[in-house]
Amino acid sequence: MTPIRPTEARVDLGAIARNLGRVRAVVGAECGVYAVVKADGYGHGAVQVARTLERAGARAFAVSLVEEGLELRRSGILAGVLVLGAVYGEAHAEALRHDLTPVVNDLETVERFALAARRIQRDVVRLHVKVDTGMSRLGVPVDELEAFLDGVARLPEIEIVGLATHLASADAADPAPTGEQLRRFEDVRAAVARRGIAVRRLHVANSAGLVRFAESRYDAVRPGLALYGHAPVPEVAVPGLEPALEWTTRLVALHEIAAGTGVSYGGTFRARRRSRIATLPLGYADGYPRAASNASEVLVAGRRAPVVGSVCMDMFMVDVTDIPEAALGAEVVLVGRRQGPRGPVEITASDLARHAGTLHYEILTGISKRVPRVYVGE
Ligand SMILES: Cc1ncc(COP(=O)(O)O)c(C=O)c1O
Repeated sequence: MTPIRPTEARVDLGAIARNLGRVRAVVGAECGVYAVVKADGYGHGAVQVARTLERAGARAFAVSLVEEGLELRRSGILAGVLVLGAVYGEAHAEALRHDLTPVVNDLETVERFALAARRIQRDVVRLHVKVDTGMSRLGVPVDELEAFLDGVARLPEIEIVGLATHLASADAADPAPTGEQLRRFEDVRAAVARRGIAVRRLHVANSAGLVRFAESRYDAVRPGLALYGHAPVPEVAVPGLEPALEWTTRLVALHEIAAGTGVSYGGTFRARRRSRIATLPLGYADGYPRAASNASEVLVAGRRAPVVGSVCMDMFMVDVTDIPEAALGAEVVLVGRRQGPRGPVEITASDLARHAGTLHYEILTGISKRVPRVYVGE
């Protein structure tokens, strides 16, 4: 269906392919890349992103959920798909049938994969083991690794082909916690090697890790955010990244209000002068954060217009008193870049996140399903 309202997220797939190239330039041709496309490709559309990256030579993807892996398979993605979130429910056999590569954190899950393999007459299950080196989220605890490996050794169909951990603080100013995690991972690697397990893929680094800690790159890296053109923090950037998503709408109503008039629910903004207030046809149900009420800004005709009043579910208002070009139907940029009267102006996902007290990760993944994604640059 052709969209009726004018709100859209425009995704430049060419930029994503080029960002993969930039990541490769940092890590080198020998290092593998698990392109992280979980959470619907960080809001960009997992299937479209994966198709583009597969064409650009990506040989493996990483998702969080089995469901996300199945979606890639249904859309014809043939590359490897690693399931990072390691929640399998009753879907062990289904994951194997669709050639998803499990990441596991505990022996019970490994046993269930072994059972599933017998049931579907698979001789071998190749899986990756995640160890917890300091994130305290998922992974076999380092001091339980030997017992875990003893258990795995009793399951003839199980082959450990990958060993992973996740960095908790790769983007933090203090490198010490990451150094400690990498030291523990080295111990784990040595313990696994002592048992004669020939792990083919050691992988640790997210976007921040691969930039800041060369020693975290091992055999493969797992970038997410960098592929979409963003640095985890400004100081930790892959050179040359292009943000791939632009979020725009159009102005659908204009009001002249007198000084002292309130705007939106609760009247949290009161005009200090006679003002022109524009209404935009999206709100927090579209993923525009309510916490940005009275805090963020948008671009109209290349100028900044502040958000005034509370962001509503389906609409919010901006003050365009000083922007004479702000007519009904004028384009509004929520995240993106335009030429302004005094040069280029930009609102990044990080800017919006800062105003809303959150992270660009949350802004990108939070743009809701009812915002159509429009794909360009293929
Ligand atoms: C296990 C794991 N690896 C890699 C990534 C990618 O991280 P980033 O988007 O910071 O590159 C994530 C994302 O949260 C993750 O959970």
